[in-house]
Amino acid sequence: MVDLENFDEATLERAFADLSAEVNADITSIKDVEAFRLHWLGRKQGRLKLISEAWLKSAPAEARKPLGMRFNQLKQQIEAALETAEQAPATTGSGAKATGGIDITLPGTVRTPGIAHPLLKTMQEIVAVFHQLGYSTNTGPQVESDFYNFEALNFPPNHPARDTQDTLVIAGQQGRPNRDRLLMRTHTSPVQIRTMIEQAPPVRIVIPGKVHRNDAADATHSPIFHQVEGLCVDTNITFSDLKGTLDHAMKALFGSGVKTRFFPSFFPFTEPSADVQISCIFCAGKGCRKCKHSGWIELLGCGMVDPAVFAAVDERRVANGLPPAYDFAKISGFAFGMGVERIAMIQHGISDIGQFYSGDMRFLEQFA
Ligand code: PHE
Repeated sequence: MVDLENFDEATLERAFADLSAEVNADITSIKDVEAFRLHWLGRKQGRLKLISEAWLKSAPAEARKPLGMRFNQLKQQIEAALETAEQAPATTGSGAKATGGIDITLPGTVRTPGIAHPLLKTMQEIVAVFHQLGYSTNTGPQVESDFYNFEALNFPPNHPARDTQDTLVIAGQQGRPNRDRLLMRTHTSPVQIRTMIEQAPPVRIVIPGKVHRNDAADATHSPIFHQVEGLCVDTNITFSDLKGTLDHAMKALFGSGVKTRFFPSFFPFTEPSADVQISCIFCAGKGCRKCKHSGWIELLGCGMVDPAVFAAVDERRVANGLPPAYDFAKISGFAFGMGVERIAMIQHGISDIGQFYSGDMRFLEQFA
């Protein structure tokens, strides 16, 4: 520390100007506000304390007052600088953290907006095709009774047709009559029954939903999967209406170039029944690995509503106090059902059904 040689105005002026400049330099390069405070205002080793002691001791009596005034000014300058530093903390170094500053060099928070799951997208696409044809949507429970899932759909108890839909049953139902026993629905067809019991013809509905079967999971099977069902009942509904409707739907879903063909099949609740095939969209019908070199891909089941189904519906309507409305001599209808996973896999060229349920963002992000 410099000693003052004399205490005239000019010397004091210069000495305090130097100190003031020193304070300013310190506060602009400061990293730690507390260290600055200690350095200048510390009660034992603070610079202000040491200098004032040294200078006041050697000062002549008449210089004490101006010296004291100047030290006061310097102290005020230091305190003001401290206050400003605390209000506007530096943005670098440890000072930034201690005083809650923001490090603008860190990456920001990226928000990824949600998207519809690819299965849901395909399901909505299928439903939309039928909405445009005047169908409305209906849904039903996943825990269903034997009556709606099987009996009313013309699968009698113990009939071998039930073996085609390996069923997950709810435990502890033995005490109930067979038709009231609960199970996980194996298809969306029970909603056909629920709809017709409540609603007289004309009926035009699509039924999207989750179904369950006791199938081992592999590349193309999952014990839980999704279907879209359709039902159209009115006067004079013929097999031609069924063919025209499904041909239009397949062209809407896979492109106007696809052809459809109908193969004889069997379902207890439709007669006649058919499997619908579309020309292979991968090889345009020439034959490839995907269509097992046949040129055709099997896509859905369908048929004309079996009279036994209408009879079961009317029986329940009457039991519920409603007038019968499904006289087979006056009305007719068709129904169809398709697997959503299978259609989505063909649309996107996905070979493993498990991808849909894995929750793997690398898979899902491709549908954003
Ligand atoms: N419910 C049948 C199944 O899951 C599909 C189907 C629906 C067939 C409607 C004909 C009519 O296999």
